[in-house]
Amino acid sequence: MRTPIIAGNWKMFKTVAEAKALAGEVCQAVAAINQVEVVLCPPFTALTTVKEAIAGSKVGLGAQNLYWEKQGAFTGEVSPQMLEGLCDYVIIGHSERRQYFGETDETVNKKIKAALAHKLLPILCVGENLAQYEAGETVAFVGSQVRGALAGLSAEEVAKIVVAYEPIWAIGTGKNAEAAGANQIIVASIRQTLTALYDESLAQKVRVQYGGSVKPDNIEGFMAQPDIDGALVGGASLKADSFTVLIKGALVKFKG
Ligand code: 13P
Repeated sequence: MRTPIIAGNWKMFKTVAEAKALAGEVCQAVAAINQVEVVLCPPFTALTTVKEAIAGSKVGLGAQNLYWEKQGAFTGEVSPQMLEGLCDYVIIGHSERRQYFGETDETVNKKIKAALAHKLLPILCVGENLAQYEAGETVAFVGSQVRGALAGLSAEEVAKIVVAYEPIWAIGTGKNAEAAGANQIIVASIRQTLTALYDESLAQKVRVQYGGSVKPDNIEGFMAQPDIDGALVGGASLKADSFTVLIKGALVKFKG
């Protein structure tokens, strides 16, 4: 079975002091949980502090973005070289980055390659907007995002990537996708595209998270789905108690 992975995307929330406190609380709360991988993705400013706060625990660390160049005159950007050794994961192509900061499948592809070259595991975000969802374009659109993001990557590289299916209309809206429907979309748009690009064995290896209004009261429904291997969580990851419920919710995979 693919190891479940619950990641907290803290977005542009938490000062350094707040991040330190939250990371400490999460580590304590999940100390006894071994079957679920937990990843915290604080803002860049808090990465070092959170790294210290999680030291000695099994909790992993992720950045929320990177630029693809190693170094240079790119004011305000953070390079893969700067994150190497600091983070385990890096979120790439989040819909907020695509929507507000002009990221495209092409830049997402460059970022994934840069991350892998620096031993960072990409969490690749894909997902349709409301108009595309309503027009029935989800599977074709998400499939095209996956193809664009993975262009030129080997099967060995793709096996390291986590894909997060995050329908834009479900992010931060309280309107989560229906679990079985999300599972179907993940199969049709992500696993089938991976099968077409590589093969079935790779498609079954890659972990796929659902993201978008994941909350304590719906986590088990998502995690009970066979093709959903975890969650990428915004709002409910900002408090230790709700985030802990989500991590425990992933244990439903091991029941029965
Ligand atoms: P919410 O959980 O707040 O809907 O955010 C989801 C998300 O964008 C995670 O990356």
